[in-house]
Amino acid sequence: MVRRVTRDSLQIERTARGYRDTCERWRREGRRVALVPTMGALHAGHLALVDEARRHADAVAVSIFVNPTQFGPNEDFSKYPRSFESDVQACRDHGASLVFNPTVEEMYPAGDATRVTVTGLTTHLCGRSRPGHFEGVATVVAKLFCLTGACVAVFGRKDYQQLKVVERLALDLGLPVEVVGHPIVREADGLALSSRNAYLSSEDRARAVAIPRSLSAASRAFATGERSAAALLAPLRQELLGAGLRTDYATLADAECIDPFDESGPVPERCLLAVAAFAGTTRLIDNVVLGQDPPPVP
Ligand code: PAF
Repeated sequence: MVRRVTRDSLQIERTARGYRDTCERWRREGRRVALVPTMGALHAGHLALVDEARRHADAVAVSIFVNPTQFGPNEDFSKYPRSFESDVQACRDHGASLVFNPTVEEMYPAGDATRVTVTGLTTHLCGRSRPGHFEGVATVVAKLFCLTGACVAVFGRKDYQQLKVVERLALDLGLPVEVVGHPIVREADGLALSSRNAYLSSEDRARAVAIPRSLSAASRAFATGERSAAALLAPLRQELLGAGLRTDYATLADAECIDPFDESGPVPERCLLAVAAFAGTTRLIDNVVLGQDPPPVP
């Protein structure tokens, strides 16, 4: 039976020690703990994760930490949107019990020398385009899991490859964490919610909707029986190009091991169709699991 959390009793914790002690106390009190890891700049997609976490647990902790190790040298770490005060209010409004907001030194203590590497799953898609990204993600998520202890942790499926990496690391390291994936939350026109949407000019925002539109066209073709990888990908790439987006990748891959399918052959009854494309200088990602998810744009 999930106990109600009062909305105005939100605690903010900045030290790893304090965060760990609170989670331990909650468990001693018989509460089930949920973790929602974020980098802040919270939007409705993140808040849906908090709502989902509340359905699984009695006490929800939201981590807000812009993790430097998952950004490449030419990426947007320094300009990543930060909105701590409104994030805290949103967490409070959605019934979270704690916001964990550590400093970089707290998460990566002096002399820090440990990294977590998940192989295989990280070879393709974002792993190829963003070298080192998943090592940074896996490292910080493993740290958060260790600090939180036994818990359920909720991640969005927009970062589908990340979700698979996190499931794998929890299994391989024997961490007592149940990993839950939450469906992508979208704008009315289908654009997946992302903190990086804030970077988009109005022209690029209008172009970006080609991403969910092209995924939907492929999804509908798949639903009517198309299984040729080339026939699914060619119109999608064409639509992205026509909209003025630069495609980083558009890939059909195994939905579990993330190995791409040969584009000259057929795809199976369930597979991942994942896209990363630039609208202006903003890199956006989106995906649909064909044979499982509805088309992003109905
Ligand atoms: O998805 C994100 O926001 C980040 O990659 C995560 C999981 C919070 C790790 O920094």
